[in-house]
Amino acid sequence: MNQAKDAAAEAEALQSVERHHAHMLKHLNGLVALLMEAVEARDAAAEETVQASLLDWCDTRLIPHALAEEGPLYGGPHATPEGRLLVEGMLAEHRVIVDLVEELRTSSGLAAAVAGSAIQRLFALHLDKENRLLMPFIVQSPDMSLAESVQGLHELTGEGADHHGGTHDDGTHHH
Ligand SMILES: [Fe+2]
Ligand SMILES: [Fe+2]
Repeated sequence: MNQAKDAAAEAEALQSVERHHAHMLKHLNGLVALLMEAVEARDAAAEETVQASLLDWCDTRLIPHALAEEGPLYGGPHATPEGRLLVEGMLAEHRVIVDLVEELRTSSGLAAAVAGSAIQRLFALHLDKENRLLMPFIVQSPDMSLAESVQGLHELTGEGADHHGGTHDDGTHHH
């Protein structure tokens, strides 16, 4: 972009991704807490149900969110000398999240709760870097636009895809 950026649109894009991150973390925290409870209570049936919900959420929300970021959101800063190392580190975190989801898939009981808890903590740390370091860097750079980077990506903003259908970020409704 050569022209002055639309500051209001940039701020709005930052807010919408931050909001979506907060919503995702809240949902993840809830599921991991339930899994912990089931494991502590040695309730095998509840454990199995919650683990399946958590896995489903990771497969349909968490991993698609990470993959959707890698091109449009990470690509710009990755191509800059100032942003490259941060993005490399954040891509490595995406890979660890994917590995932990596989660990969750193939484990049960205490090991599953440990994997879920690790996903939760890593995701909290990771989204904080996106909110406080990566996205502000894009907003402040004259050559990049956050609003353009996230446009149409409902995996990043939680908004319905261009108003012709889509899903809410809690994964419960389709319309
Ligand atoms: Fe990310
Ligand atoms: Fe993110």
